Formats: sequence, structure tokens, C-alpha cells
Amino acid sequence: MALNVVIMAAGKGTRMKSALPKVLHKLAGQSLLQHVLATVAQLGDRAGKIRTVVITGHGAEQVEAEAAASGATFVRQMPQLGTGHAVQQAVPALDPGNEVTLILNGDVPLIRPETALALVQACGGTKLALLTIELPDAAGYGRIVRAPAASAAAAGSGEQVRAIVEHKDASPAQRAIREVYTGVMAAPTALLSRWVMALKNDNVQQEYYLTDIVALAVAEGVPVVATAAPSDTEVLGVNSPVQLADLERRYQRAAAESLMEAGVRLADPARLDVRGRLSCGSDVEIDVNCLFEGRVALADGVRIGANCIVRDASIGAGAVIHPFTHIEGASVGAGALVGPYARLRPGAELGAEVHIGNFVEVKNSTLAKGAKANHLAYLGDATVGERVNFGAGSITANYDGANKHRTVIGNDVHVGSNCVLVAPVTLGDGATIGGGSTISKPAPAGQLTVARARQATIPGWQRPRKATGPG
Ligand code: UD1
Ligand code: MG
Repeated sequence: MALNVVIMAAGKGTRMKSALPKVLHKLAGQSLLQHVLATVAQLGDRAGKIRTVVITGHGAEQVEAEAAASGATFVRQMPQLGTGHAVQQAVPALDPGNEVTLILNGDVPLIRPETALALVQACGGTKLALLTIELPDAAGYGRIVRAPAASAAAAGSGEQVRAIVEHKDASPAQRAIREVYTGVMAAPTALLSRWVMALKNDNVQQEYYLTDIVALAVAEGVPVVATAAPSDTEVLGVNSPVQLADLERRYQRAAAESLMEAGVRLADPARLDVRGRLSCGSDVEIDVNCLFEGRVALADGVRIGANCIVRDASIGAGAVIHPFTHIEGASVGAGALVGPYARLRPGAELGAEVHIGNFVEVKNSTLAKGAKANHLAYLGDATVGERVNFGAGSITANYDGANKHRTVIGNDVHVGSNCVLVAPVTLGDGATIGGGSTISKPAPAGQLTVARARQATIPGWQRPRKATGPG
């Protein structure tokens, strides 16, 4: 069913007490608005063609820039005279050929596509469908006012929805109602367009309430259906840092649970953060306080130690990442050992069984099978052969102050400790580089190359002494 989606994102978010527009605050590494747009994109896969209209106002430029890639249309609402007024602005941008219009909130990030789709189906192009929920404390919300069913056909499905009454306008009896409107609805496009134009602002807040269309629908005999949200997490909005943190925890808890259901062993599901997509093979173990960002793939049997940060990376089968390791834009081969305290930067490609130890940094370099840099080293813009042993304190000097150059190290090379390889430079297969060498010319294969001052002993040399007596 072709669909219009309206995302309300004009509000200021005063309670965030932030210069950033509310819908641009991040949850699990993505803006609230991106979460909603991602849900809409998934709807598109299932519901067919979608026209998305984002209503902006406060921080419109920033909000529109954030959503630009989604292909949404933007409508500015200035000033903001209420949710009904907001939808009025969107009406000219709706596709009248799309039978159903779904209204979502930019600050309600965790609604699932299944839930939105169920609401669209409940609307079916003929009914007004409201997403509702029962809350123990309904203060601040619009209450779902029901009245006895007028017809026998509706009997049995509870009392029919008659209206939504906003908290501020509600009588004490209405305030006792626990069933509330979540801010999400699906309406027949033609009717919605007509209804929002007929709204009045004769209420406590002197706003145009979108929720008043319920009474208009009832007056016209258009059926109004309420669909219960499956969980409060899906319909909770973000209005304050406290609510943002609460939703973040709920999101992370759910992410941890789905990983565990897939067999991942988490040392503590409360101490894992996934800000992106983490995919895991079988028998993966993740210790406490790990953070995964962007797209991360962990193959079978991978173990991640405590306090690691892994972003946009793939880790091969059986590899072990020891604690406090940072990995970004890198790939790690099967059976490799990395860390503790290692740093893999973008373009680091480690082959199978590579060992990268403590305080070793690797950037834009490939290390072939079995290569090792176990302590205190830097490999940048390097091509490293199989079984190379790169000694403690050795580095590639890849930057001349203007340009980067490559270091090429053949198979079975041994680089001693504290060497500086001044790129561009090549070390032939099987070369050995003596410790403390500064290598700026090619080192031939199979030979020992040393480039350091010779050791000398000065016979009879005496240490200076402190001068004594009157001077
Ligand atoms: C709204 C509903 C209420 C519901 C609650 C759920 C109305 C009148 N009331 O109340 O029944 O229980 O949401 O959270 O709709 N916005 C605009 N332009 C405006 C006003 C609001 O774009 O002029 C946007 C806001 O940025 C927000 C959304 O619409 O994303 C809801 O507005 P908000 O002011 O939070 O409405 P509530 O008073 O919470
Ligand atoms: Mg609100």
C-alpha cells in the first residue's frame, strides 16, 4: 500500500537544555531522527512506495541536513502553533494518490517497523488508526476517551473511541484514564487533509491539536480504531537527558539480549554498548565494557577482552583481542592476537595468526600471515611479509613532513629493537636489521644490515668531579 509518512520534528526540545535541536541528539550513536528514518526505510521495503515529509522548525537547517540523504521532503513550520498546525503545513507535500498517511514523531526513536505497519494495516485507507498504550502514570498525555458502542457490531471490541482529550484540557474523570495516545497515527490521506484544515485552537493551550481530528472522524461516522503498542519502549519520547539515557539503556539491553539469544556470551549484558551493527559468528565471547561502533563483524570463536573499542572492523575466526585495544577501520585475520593496549587504525589489515602486542600502532599497513610486532612499535604505510618479526621500539618513519611514503618488508625479515625505517625503503626477504639502526637505503635479502655508530670504549677516561675549596 503506497504510503505518506509525516515525521514531526519542528519542536524545540526545551527540556534538553541544549543548543542542538532535540531530534539531532544521539541514541546508540545515531540521531533520534535517523532512527525514525531507518524505520521508515524498512517500511518502504515492506509497504512499497513511500513519500516522507519531515516537518522542521527549530534548527530547521541542521535537521534538514541530517535527513537530506533519506530523500525526504521538508516542510517548515514557523511559528509552531501545535501538532495540527504542523500537519496542515505538510498537507500540500503529501501524495494524494497514497491512500494512507502515517504520522510519526522525530523524538520517538524506537518504534519498530512491524508496529508502524500494523497501524497502517489497521487504517487500511478507510479508518483512523491510533497507536495507544496504557500507562500507570498518564500525566501530560492525551487521554483516549471511549463511549459505549453505538452498534452491535462494535460490541465486544470494547467501547468505541470518541475523542482524544489533552491532559491540560481534561476533566478530573478524564485524567483518571490510563489509556493514552502515543503521538503515532495512520489516517486516510484525503480525510486527514480535510480534517486538519478544519481544526480550531479553542483550548487551554490555544494550539491546533492534531488529536482533535478524532472527534471530527467520529462526527462523520468514520471508524476510529486503537491499536495497543507492544511495549512502552517503542513509544517513549525523548524530552530530557534523563529520558534519553533511559532509552539508550533500553536499546542496549535489547541489543545485548538479541546477541545472547544468537549464542554470543557476554560477560555482563549491562556493560556492552553497540552503536551501529554488530554481527557475530558462533562461540563469540565479549568481556565487560566493550564498545562497538559502525559495522563490526566478529567471526566464529572470536574473544574480545575487557574495555575494547571496535569500530568498522572485521575480526577473523578464533582471533583474540586482549583488553584495552582500539580498532578502527581495520581487519584482523583468523587466529590473530591483538593487544592488550594495541591500536589498529584505518587501513590496518592483519593476516592470519599475526601478533600485535602492547602499545603497538598499525595504520594503513598490511601484515601477512604470522607477522609479529609484539611491543611498542609503529607500522604506518607498510607492507609486511610473512613471519616478519618487528622489534620493540621500532617504527616506520613514513612521513617526511609533506608526503607519506611506503615501507616494504619482505618475508622472514627480522627487524631488531629501536630501528627507524625511513620510507620509502625496502627490506629484502630474510633480511636482518641490527637493533638501533636507522635504515634509509634498501637492505638486501638474507643479510645483516646495521646502521648505527660503532661501540667505542675510551681508555683512562674519568668522570668529572665537583670542584672543592674556595673558588
Ligand atoms: C502530543 C499529543 C498527545 C500525546 C503526546 C504523546 C497533540 C495535541 N497531543 O502531545 O495527545 O499523548 O503527543 O507524546 O498532538 N510539533 C511540531 N509542531 C508543533 C508542535 C509540535 O512539529 O507546533 C512536534 C514536536 O516536535 C513533537 C511532536 O510534534 O515531535 C509532539 O509535540 P509535543 O509538543 O511533544 O506534543 P505533546 O504535548 O507531547
Ligand atoms: Mg511530547
